[in-house]
Amino acid sequence: MAGGPSPNDPARAGIPTPLAPLETLFDATEGDPLPLPLPLAELYGVLRFPPPAGRPRVLASFASTIDGVAAFPSPGAVGGGEVTGASPHDRMILGLLRAVADVVVVGAGTVRASPRHRWTAARAFPPLRAAYSELRERLGMPPAPLTVIVSARGDLDPTAPLFRGDEAPVLVVTTRAGAATLAGSDSERRIAVATAAGGTSIPAAEILGAIPPRPPVRRVLVEGGPHLLGEMLAARVLDELFLTVAPQVAGRDGRSDRPGIVAGHALAPDRPMWGALRSVRRAGDHLFLRYGFPGERVSPG
Ligand SMILES: NC(=O)c1ccc[n+]([C@@H]2O[C@H](COP(=O)([O-])OP(=O)(O)OC[C@H]3O[C@@H](n4cnc5c(N)ncnc54)[C@H](OP(=O)(O)O)[C@@H]3O)[C@@H](O)[C@H]2O)c1
Repeated sequence: MAGGPSPNDPARAGIPTPLAPLETLFDATEGDPLPLPLPLAELYGVLRFPPPAGRPRVLASFASTIDGVAAFPSPGAVGGGEVTGASPHDRMILGLLRAVADVVVVGAGTVRASPRHRWTAARAFPPLRAAYSELRERLGMPPAPLTVIVSARGDLDPTAPLFRGDEAPVLVVTTRAGAATLAGSDSERRIAVATAAGGTSIPAAEILGAIPPRPPVRRVLVEGGPHLLGEMLAARVLDELFLTVAPQVAGRDGRSDRPGIVAGHALAPDRPMWGALRSVRRAGDHLFLRYGFPGERVSPG
């Protein structure tokens, strides 16, 4: 990125991080701007969502390389940092999306890949903890979104830090078999479980339908991984995708699975799903894209 002081210098704007503001290249989003505290407004620009449509808006956040690799399932490289090059802008945006989400939904594979993580804004990007927290206060939201974990088998470590529930409440959506596995796990912890009818795959409508309606749910953020996103897209329940494109080519040699952002479902060419570009932001060589899927969604439940 260009060096030297500029009017957008984050130090001058009082941003508590050395991050440079994102450059907004295109923005066709609609709705009233959310009341972002100054550091977030300086870094991100304007964040809008269309007016509520009588149901929660379902968002997804993902990252991919130029050639579409979203995960490296090799030991020591399963986190998102290898995909994005640990881009702080990617983390900052993820924190912002978590900060405006009532619920964050993750698949069990993603939880197993990052067993010590908590799905809160502050954990995504700690330097902006105070700004995220202020934003949630301004929006009248509780301190952290509900974390919903989706698992058919219930193969989760109940001693994992997220199940302490001290940073965010947690709900596991699972099958009857999964609930039995969790109940039988050797743990003192009582884990909140919602049991769905699905066998090896719980339909997206059931996952969304298991979310308690109180406090009111305006935005649900799906953070993956690829199998969970595949289910959400195939069921046409996704409203928007926030996609980070990292400027690296990862390649594939067939020796290990390197999934893209969607797994478990084939859409095109038989059931194509075309997005509408809503915004494009840039930090150096990273791109931050926002796509809407108008008219694709069917009402869950
Ligand atoms: N690039 C990115 O933005 C991004 C984002 C998130 C994750 N990732 C990466 O993706 C990798 C994991 O990929 P993944 O596809 O395995 O992730 P995943 O979708 O989180 O995990 C798949 C597992 O989640 C459960 N699950 C998902 N959808 C379900 C449904 N509809 N019904 C019932 N269970 C469901 C199942 O758990 P059970 O096996 O317990 O039944 C399934 O085996 C990790 O390396 C992670 O770091 C990348």
